[in-house]
Amino acid sequence: MYQYNYADQTLVDERVAQFRDQTKRFLAGELPEEQFLPLRLQNGLYIQRYAPMLRIAIPYGLFASYQLRKLAEITRKYDKGYGHFTTRTNIQLNWPKLEDVPDILAELASVQMHAIQTSGNCIRNTTTDPYAGIHQEEIADPRPYCEIIRQWSTFHPEFAFLPRKFKIAVVGTANDRAATQVHDIGLHVKTNEAGELGFEVLVGGGLGRTPVIGKVINEFLPRQHLLSYLDAILRVYNLHGRRDNKYKARIKILVESMGGPAFAKLVNAEWEAHTKDGPLTLTEENFATASSFFTEPDYLSFDALQVQDDLQKQLDADKAFANWYNQNTVAHKVAGYRAVVISLKAGVVDGRYVPSGDVSESQMDALADLADTYSFGELRGTYQQNLVFADVQANQLYELWQQLTTLHLARANINTLTDMIVCPGWDYCSLANATTHNIAEQIEKQFDDLDYLYDLGEIRLNMSGCMNACAHHHTGDIGILGVDKKGEHWYQISLGGNSSNDAKIGKILGKAVPATDVAVTLQKILDVYLEQRVSNEQDVERFGDLVDRVGIAPFKEKVYG
Ligand code: HEM
Ligand code: SF4
Repeated sequence: MYQYNYADQTLVDERVAQFRDQTKRFLAGELPEEQFLPLRLQNGLYIQRYAPMLRIAIPYGLFASYQLRKLAEITRKYDKGYGHFTTRTNIQLNWPKLEDVPDILAELASVQMHAIQTSGNCIRNTTTDPYAGIHQEEIADPRPYCEIIRQWSTFHPEFAFLPRKFKIAVVGTANDRAATQVHDIGLHVKTNEAGELGFEVLVGGGLGRTPVIGKVINEFLPRQHLLSYLDAILRVYNLHGRRDNKYKARIKILVESMGGPAFAKLVNAEWEAHTKDGPLTLTEENFATASSFFTEPDYLSFDALQVQDDLQKQLDADKAFANWYNQNTVAHKVAGYRAVVISLKAGVVDGRYVPSGDVSESQMDALADLADTYSFGELRGTYQQNLVFADVQANQLYELWQQLTTLHLARANINTLTDMIVCPGWDYCSLANATTHNIAEQIEKQFDDLDYLYDLGEIRLNMSGCMNACAHHHTGDIGILGVDKKGEHWYQISLGGNSSNDAKIGKILGKAVPATDVAVTLQKILDVYLEQRVSNEQDVERFGDLVDRVGIAPFKEKVYG
């Protein structure tokens, strides 16, 4: 994990002191609202429907047990005892008091955390694959590059007031688990024929009211040019991006309006003329320094056959454990280890729906202890609003599962219909058109049979409460969008979206359905899938593949016919 040096700590501490003073002056009426606004946004603070909302950065989703304990303490002391993990691997607090925020930031700084650049029109948290560094198919670990980007983009004076927010995602495997194609910039680690490392560079992806898939503008950028090239992209965007209309200000609109090749040409011209081979050129020493923060933990060596044998016995003896193992654990490059996905989609617990991504303070404390015992004290956030223990010994999976089960953190639903990405919607967000949590609860109640979910196979269901698309509803196999119809909450459904390699925007099924009918409508859609999917001995046609093959007509017919 990256460790703060003296300069980092000083920078973050100074920022806390500045914000303390700004907040004091604002509360005393000495700083007008419009001047305070950009200052609070640069420190992750929004004002929402009922309370402020503080978004805390978790760089590339990686954090330590002591940081999670601090988050637990903060939510107990200053908030309502829980936090919300987001698709961009940050954590949000929904109820802080404005006057407490400087103290919260000071507490965060004591564990090398902050909320800098988590909102506002700047470069936001860089995200990556939750299996970075441990996946068998990895070309190279993307985290050192994320860290290099973090250092370059933090407080970058030229890019503090871009036309609009700016998000970068990096992946190191051919399989994209970070939705790079719907980011402002997506970077895919690659090697060229000579075996050198570099990146395929995509630009102009984004969802919101104008969903667009990113375009490749450079098929292989040698890695030493990473920052000089990113700098050139940002310069072109800063200069040509629209500032007259907030809804047309994202880089995707600029790239769409001029076309990928013309945009690439501008970037290359800027790069060649100003930034290429300049001071931003990265050296082998830079890469070695960044990589030194992501060294492998002290893995033990095992008798692989023995471990497998013991595990098999546990799997055979306990179906619930076997389900969890199949759904919630992932192969690891080191024999005898697996990654564990902790489902933050508990569904309805003790009669109460737990929103996707929410973790209570007691769960945070318990997870911190479990991370120390079972996964070298580290955790990761995922794009799907879950958490990951990346390095768990296979022979400890059973006991870890038992403990997670008592915490309601072992629901074996990863990648199933109820592993939903859900934005906060009307319950918190002042931009919302509709509630989302009550709809998610309705879906949870209708689809609570795990065997049915396993039969459906991998399905991504994403739900946003308005067209800002925070939950990426466009790229769900099934997307649900809350819309307002004369003050009532209705839900528009789309099918066939995808955020990974084969990224695409889903197609709208038809007119929106009322809140009462969402789960029954889903049932009809799933019935069509189950009736029409083609299976052979090896494979079952996946939901998205069926939509690609037959289109939305049969679904439309069933729902509206
Ligand atoms: C409740 C407070 C929130 C507010 C006010 C808010 C506001 C917004 C707005 C206005 C946009 C659109 C920006 C644009 O396209 O120019 C946006 C985008 C986004 N938000 Fe949120 N958001 C909130 C919470 C969340 C949460 C909880 C998540 C994750 C679960 C999230 C994830 C995202 C993502 C991934 C995008 C980018 C969508 C895209 O590609 O265009 N946001 N947010
Ligand atoms: S999608 Fe809309 S309702 Fe949901 S969090 Fe984003 S801005 Fe709010």
